[in-house]
Amino acid sequence: STPAAFTVPLSVPPTLRPSRVTRDTDYYDVTIGKSYANIVPGARTEVLTYNGSFPGPTIRARSGRKVVVRQKNHLNEPATVHLHGGATEQASDGSAMDPIKAGESKIFTYHNLQPHANLWMHDHTHHLESEHLFRGLANLYLLTDKIEESLPLPKGKYDVPLMLSDTRLDDKGQLVYTMDDAFQRTTLLVNGRPRPYFKVDARKYRFRLVNTSNLRMFWLSLSDGTPLTVIGADGGLLPAPYETERLLISPGERADLIIDFSKYPPGTQLILKNDLPPGDPELIGQVIRFDVGRPAPDKSSIPATLRSLPAIGEADTTRQMVMYMDEVGAGTNAFLNGKAFDPDRIDIDIKHGTTEEWILTNTSQTIPHNFHTHLVQFRVTGRNGGPATGFETGLKDTVLLWPGEFVTLRATFDTYKGVFPYHCHMVDHSAMGMMAQLRVS
Ligand code: C2O
Ligand code: CU
Repeated sequence: STPAAFTVPLSVPPTLRPSRVTRDTDYYDVTIGKSYANIVPGARTEVLTYNGSFPGPTIRARSGRKVVVRQKNHLNEPATVHLHGGATEQASDGSAMDPIKAGESKIFTYHNLQPHANLWMHDHTHHLESEHLFRGLANLYLLTDKIEESLPLPKGKYDVPLMLSDTRLDDKGQLVYTMDDAFQRTTLLVNGRPRPYFKVDARKYRFRLVNTSNLRMFWLSLSDGTPLTVIGADGGLLPAPYETERLLISPGERADLIIDFSKYPPGTQLILKNDLPPGDPELIGQVIRFDVGRPAPDKSSIPATLRSLPAIGEADTTRQMVMYMDEVGAGTNAFLNGKAFDPDRIDIDIKHGTTEEWILTNTSQTIPHNFHTHLVQFRVTGRNGGPATGFETGLKDTVLLWPGEFVTLRATFDTYKGVFPYHCHMVDHSAMGMMAQLRVS
């Protein structure tokens, strides 16, 4: 059962309060447990949560300031937490193979030595990550720095995170999870609310979009055809804003947008549409409705230059990576470079401080994949022989490959040494084996 569109208001996940603050560190305590969410009016939906919140509470961090999170696992099964997009040392990376056992806790340390970025956290327990994410184990981790703060972008209540996902509900309003049933997850959620409405003032807003779904891609546009102004990607702001009529965002990716509602008369209803199946367009064609109210003072602006990015390094090593999964009986076998994941598997040895160039190919006939690596932000240096465009010109940690596509990326491994995974971020696919590991030493 999918609730009718635009019957519930948008909510924004609460900001997590530190349990202790010192000169250079914020300490947090999080409990992973079962809880209930109000997704369908009148039903209590059992979900998995960080601290009882669906989706989890937002952590706000600053570059150069440490965050230490004690995660307590109250579930009857293992769980672990990965900071997606973070440059994190191996011990705190939330390794798929080293989860927090049922009833135990673990401390994760994030040094935040990278620039601002809209990061997010999610479960990464091998074979359970997909179901845990589906049931609610995701939260935002918004890392800011001086550069971002100095810009006159919309702030405070005009800076709104939108976590986009989908789910599947039975007629009692309970979640139904089966692996790789993308076609049945047709209830769209924004911040855990089914196709909500959001009352906005007639002025500029910043929206930080994160696609937290397992498999669903969103191809977004505004119902009146006004272009979206994109200012950021996975790894923070773009060098310059650009406008696009439609924005494609695959699982794990982030996009930072500005929408200016000041040109609309009060009472205007503007819909953020999704033009990509699977699912009946009646269900999946609309994501959120903006209900425009009165004008409000607006001192914000969108600078023509947002930041400068480091030059892309010369490649020390070039490698090929092939993403493939069986088309028939999908839901069984998924491969990276011809092999399924195994915990002893280390495919790549990287010398610390060097730059890698990876040529990714999706050889599936009909199934898209999207490549994500831990530890670094990368640059997309080519797509199907042409240059990267749009938000792919920014810092990225996840990149989409349609069937038959190839993408070239470059990353410099100059932060932590250790063993880290890379995988398809259509999370059901990584759970099926489309995952490998690299070692930096
Ligand atoms: Cu967002 Cu290895 O994951
Ligand atoms: Cu995949």
